[in-house]
Order: sequence, then C-alpha cells, then structure tokens
Amino acid sequence: MAAAILLPLAVALLAVFLLAYKPFRHRLLYKLPPGPRPLPIVGNLYDVKPLLVRCFTDWSRIYGPIFSVYRGSHLSVVVNTAALAKEVLKDNDHLLADRNRTPQINKFSKGGKDLIWADYGPHYVKVRKLCTLELFSAKRIDGLRPIREDEVTAMVESIYKDSLKPEKKGEEVVVREYLGMMAFLHITRLSFGKRFVDSDGVYDAQGEELKWILNNSIKLGMRKSWSEFIPWLRFLFKDEEEALQEHDSRGGRFTKLILEEHAAARRKTGSTKNHFVDALLTLRKDYDLGEDTIIGLLWDMISAGMDTTTITVEWAVAELIRNPRVLRKVQQELDGVVGRDRLMTEADIPNLPYLRCVAKECFRLHPPTPLMLPHKASADVKIGGYDVPKGTTVSVNAWAIARDPAIWKEPLEFRPERFEEEDVDMKGTDFRLVPFGSGRRLCPGAQLGINLVTSMIGHLVHHFDWSVKGGVEGMDMMEQPGTVTYMRTPLRAVPVARLPEHLYRRIAVGNV
Ligand code: HEM
Repeated sequence: MAAAILLPLAVALLAVFLLAYKPFRHRLLYKLPPGPRPLPIVGNLYDVKPLLVRCFTDWSRIYGPIFSVYRGSHLSVVVNTAALAKEVLKDNDHLLADRNRTPQINKFSKGGKDLIWADYGPHYVKVRKLCTLELFSAKRIDGLRPIREDEVTAMVESIYKDSLKPEKKGEEVVVREYLGMMAFLHITRLSFGKRFVDSDGVYDAQGEELKWILNNSIKLGMRKSWSEFIPWLRFLFKDEEEALQEHDSRGGRFTKLILEEHAAARRKTGSTKNHFVDALLTLRKDYDLGEDTIIGLLWDMISAGMDTTTITVEWAVAELIRNPRVLRKVQQELDGVVGRDRLMTEADIPNLPYLRCVAKECFRLHPPTPLMLPHKASADVKIGGYDVPKGTTVSVNAWAIARDPAIWKEPLEFRPERFEEEDVDMKGTDFRLVPFGSGRRLCPGAQLGINLVTSMIGHLVHHFDWSVKGGVEGMDMMEQPGTVTYMRTPLRAVPVARLPEHLYRRIAVGNV
C-alpha cells in the first residue's frame, strides 16, 4: 500500500525536479545547438579550459560552428563563423542586445545604470545617443588629440631615457610597462580630466588611490569563483562580498571627489574642457543623467579603453619583431612620408596606408576582446536553425572568425598586404572582421581606439628598431586567459633609437 503511494510521489517529485532543472527543460522544449554534455549542477564548468577563446575554437571544430555550453545551469551559445555573426549582430540584433550581469557586475554597475552593462531599452538608447553625439563625436575626439599626442611622446621619451641608462643599454625592456602607463595616463586624462602622475613618474595622492582601485579590480576579476555560475554556493564566499563592498565605496568616493572638483572649477572659471567629466557635467540636465550613470560611464571608459589599446600594441610590436620584412616596410613608409627630422602626428595617418594595414592586421589576428562582450537574448530567437531561449548568453568568437581559413587566405600569417588587396572594414559592416563588434552594441570608442593604436605603433617603429635577444623562435605567442587577452608572457624587446635626439622629448600640453 505504502509503495503504491510512494512510488508515484517519487516519480512526480523527480519530474518536478527535472522540469525545474534548466538544462533538462531546455533539451525537452527547444532544439538547442549541439555541445558537450552538461553534468548536473556544474554543467560544463568541469571541462571549460581557462583560455576560453582557444577552448571554444577547439569545440567549434568538434560540435560545429554554433554550440551550446552550460556554466552551472546557465546556457551560453557561441557562434564561430562570419555568417552566424551576421545572424547575431545584424539580423537578430534587436533581440540579442541585452547583457548578462553577474551579481558582482550588477553591484558595480548599480543594476546596469551605465552603458556597458545596461540592458537594451530606453536608458541604454539615451546613454548610447549621448556617447555617439557627444562623448565620441568627431569634434570632441579631434579636440582631445593633443592629450593623445602628449602621452604618446611621453611614452617614447620614457623608453628612450631608459634605453640610455648604463644598466639598460642594449638590454631588453618590458614593452607592456610603457604601453600600460601610456594607456593609463591617456584614458584617465580623457575620463577624469587630470594627469595623476608627474613628469618623474610619481603618483599624487589621488593617483595612488586610483592605482589601488584599478589593481583591486584586477584582483577581484581574477577571483571569479564558481559562485558566479552556481549562486547557492555564494555563502562560501563571504569575504568576497566584503571585498566588493570596500571596492565599490572607494571607487564611488574617488569619483564623487573628482566630480566636485570639476564642478567647482567650472563655477569659478565659467569654462568647460573637452574631457568626459566636464562633458557629462555640462550635459547632465539635457540627458537627465543621475549620479550613478555619470560615475558608471566614467568607469566604463576606463575599463573598456585602457587594456584594449595596451594589448593590441603589445601584440603589434611582437608581430613586427617576428616579421622584420613588415617592420622595415612600415619604417620605410614613415621615413618617406614623415621623414627623419620631425615627429609623426595623427594628421599623418591618412598618408600612411601601410601603417593602417599593419594596425588592421593586428586587430584581425589579436582582437583584444576575442569573444567580444557577451550579449543576452531578451526573447526566444533562432540562430543557424537552432533555438536560443530567452535569457541565454550569446558570444561571438571574433578571434576564430578572423582566423577562419574558409574566408582568409593563409589566416595565421601576419600579412598586412591582404588589406591592400581587399579593403575589409573593421568597424562593424563586414562580419569577417569584427574586433569592435557590430550593430547596436558596436564599440563606441572604435575610431578613438584605431587612432590611438595606429599612432602608438607608428611612433614606436618610427623612433626605434626592435629585436629580441633569444631569437624570434623563442617568443611566446600564446594568450593569457581573461575577457581581454594579453600576451601570456609579457614581451621583452631591445629598443634602438633611429631618429635625432631632439625628437625624443615629450610634447606636454595641459588639459584641453
Ligand atoms: C582599442 C581597441 C578597442 C577594441 C578592440 C574594442 C572592442 C570592443 C568590443 C568588442 C566591444 C563589445 C561589443 C559588443 O558587445 O558587441 C566594446 C564595447 C565598448 N567599448 Fe570598446 N574597444 C576598444 C577601445 C575602446 C575605447 C578606447 C573606449 C573608450 C574610451 C571603448 C569603449 C567601449 C564601450 C563604452 C563599450 C560598451 C558598448 C555597449 O555596451 O554598448 N572601447 N569594445
């Protein structure tokens, strides 16, 4: 008798459990893209390799150009061809323009009150319009050019001075240190309207606090735990919550102080500058911007615009050292157009077609955000003939697409000439090359990033010859795991000056 009641009850409970368990429910209700078999609770977390982009590219060879992967019970779909990228970023863009916010990100972005982590909707449309028409307008980007040129020349001066030090003469330098400093100084001046480091490289008190905040966000990012995907494990990571709280309040305090300083300066002088703090304070009323949004936008620029440039240029110098033919050819172009008795400026870039091809070839082979930023489905949608249920994270593997032998001749070769043969757009209209994404969520800083990266590469090769001591065969060309992919081993290379001494001085400007 008891068995007659218990058995159906057990079956019913099992059925309820299975239906509540997302991977099972998905398989029952949808025709999902194929993928590795998920285990209960962990999904495919046990099998995902730390270097996600290479792991996903390998999986696309096993499961096909579109596949499913479960992190915990959260479904992600990854697309790996240009045709599927078009389906995601153009044909179904309106249904795939939300973002998936982890609890950590939700906290920092105050529930998506910024741009990067906002879902697609009225708030996003308003802030995006502000970015397109105001922050990244051609006029403002051009107005901020003196800051970029100041910092590029400061970087050249710093490499030159170090290369002359007796203990460093003829020795390798860690290239990333100079690029990182340049990117930090540029993006903080652009966003916060201040240079936090003096000409001797000494940080002021605010700069020290900013350095702490930035280093701490790297630390917190690295401590990403399984609790991100298995929420009920969160009780095990209490200290993480406290660390997040401290980070959030220090970041908020820092930014509020900067805003107060600039508001006071504007009241006193009646004038505003081009940088983003002043722009946001000026536009605050017109766009109805709350404080959380202003603070969020300023930090968005720092997080999206700093590592991306450093990473691309480090890969560029490495590729140029591995390909001396290309290095010589771009130097010849610079010597011919700019000459050897003046500095290159951004105004020269339109006359340097080969340099532009070199920069584009770097964005192709080494897109700094190789899986772009994950999108989220706001409704059920069909991609590649498969179902993608509402709430699924969708990633585009820009790295695999740019190395696809079906669309690129000798894809692994660093050959800028390919863009002389065919001028492929990289700002979102050609799905073979999408380092900046495409569609609604296309990177708003794309043109700024291209200008900066092209100028940095141009200056580095115009001013210096570059080589490595151990020979190019020993260079580590693997990526480091992360949302952005630095070189796994920081590049060490010997710079040898090739221009007259007076061209190695920083051209300092105040804030503009
Ligand atoms: C230099 C190279 C850069 C690359 C390769 C790059 C790439 C990208 C990519 C792939 C996305 C995500 C697109 C998507 O979700 O579909 C993105 C978003 C974004 N980028 Fe960039 N970026 C660069 C530089 C910059 C710079 C310099 C800034 C600002 C100063 C910037 C600001 C942003 C912002 C705010 C977003 C979020 C856009 C949104 O969610 O609507 N980026 N970027």
